[in-house]
Amino acid sequence: MRDQFLVFGAPQIEEAEINEVVDCLRSGWLGTGPKVARFEEQFRQYIGAEYAIAVNSCTAGLHLSMIVAGLGPGDEVITTPMTFCATVNSIIHTGATPVLVDCDRDTFLIDPQRIEDAITPRTRAIVPVHLCGRPCDMDAIMDIAARRNLLVIEDAAHAIETVYKGRKVGTIGDLTAFSFYVTKNVITGEGGMVTTNRPNFADKIKVYGLHGMSKDAWKRYSDEGYKHYQVVFPGFKYNMMDLQAAIGLHQLARVDENLKRRNEIWQTYNRAFADLPVGLPAPDEPDTVHARHLYTLMIDKERCGMTRDEFMQRLYKLNIGTGVHYVGVHLHAYYRERFDYCPEDFPNATWISKRTVSIPLSPKLSGADVEDVIEAVKNILRQ
Ligand SMILES: Cc1ncc(COP(=O)(O)O)c(C=O)c1O
Repeated sequence: MRDQFLVFGAPQIEEAEINEVVDCLRSGWLGTGPKVARFEEQFRQYIGAEYAIAVNSCTAGLHLSMIVAGLGPGDEVITTPMTFCATVNSIIHTGATPVLVDCDRDTFLIDPQRIEDAITPRTRAIVPVHLCGRPCDMDAIMDIAARRNLLVIEDAAHAIETVYKGRKVGTIGDLTAFSFYVTKNVITGEGGMVTTNRPNFADKIKVYGLHGMSKDAWKRYSDEGYKHYQVVFPGFKYNMMDLQAAIGLHQLARVDENLKRRNEIWQTYNRAFADLPVGLPAPDEPDTVHARHLYTLMIDKERCGMTRDEFMQRLYKLNIGTGVHYVGVHLHAYYRERFDYCPEDFPNATWISKRTVSIPLSPKLSGADVEDVIEAVKNILRQ
């Protein structure tokens, strides 16, 4: 057994980030400034979008996207229960109503046919979630959106490297929000980015994300002399700091090299677990790049002789940390009570919620760490 606990999703921090953070501290400019501008430009180029605006979380990015898209009371927004609560909370905070539709049992992704069936005259937007780094069926979703005149706001918290049929996620829908939370494939501690090809959305996100103060108000204390600003909207405090961008710049520079390592670990897991009585991630869809953010095992009591939670507990005792992504939104107290959801409303999401467990998958893992995870999983399941 390992003597040190393997933390799930531990970030890989290198000297380059540390030096850049120190440089930021020494510069005396910690808030939104030149490093954020550089990070936005590098992220924009990496994604290939027209605009990229840094924010202090993906949650903030989703909320701002929905605000600038004009969503509000009386509107309905279709999304999936198989996501993190932030997706649905962002909809609720605009005053709009989330309308959940079930996901596919194998891919965990929103089912386009169910989107179509859930559209009403009040529907304004679709929020696909590229869970685990796997792209949703964007051809089908964009086709529905075009025919029914809906906006598409993508939750790409897991999908920085994801490509769908030659197009990077972040260039397909109207607005896309990414996460740089500590467990993500690029981290800034807390942080996020919105990409869009639409200049009016980009301008508004920039302004609404900093109190609604007129453009470039963050420069008001710079060496160009004090600048007055006007408040043009009751906005939010969602801006990213240079301290955060200092980390993100170097994380982003390594993202593709890290994806190769993530992919190696993914394939090693696939081979090692092929004969075990567990469900493995579905194969990749043709002509897509999966961001390899989360590797999930499906633990079925009938097949494995233990529940998912028992399995996690046993891994924990062997010093291996795990995560659950996710217990469906419809199973949480608030949404269950407010929207009257029951588990049977979304049978696939309920099925996944009971079985899914994410095991460590990070470029920080050494070969020995990967072997430890494999041995622990095999030992538990063969007992
Ligand atoms: C699918 C999904 N959406 C949104 C978020 C929110 O991201 P953040 O923590 O950057 O606000 C997360 C975070 O885990 C997520 O997994």
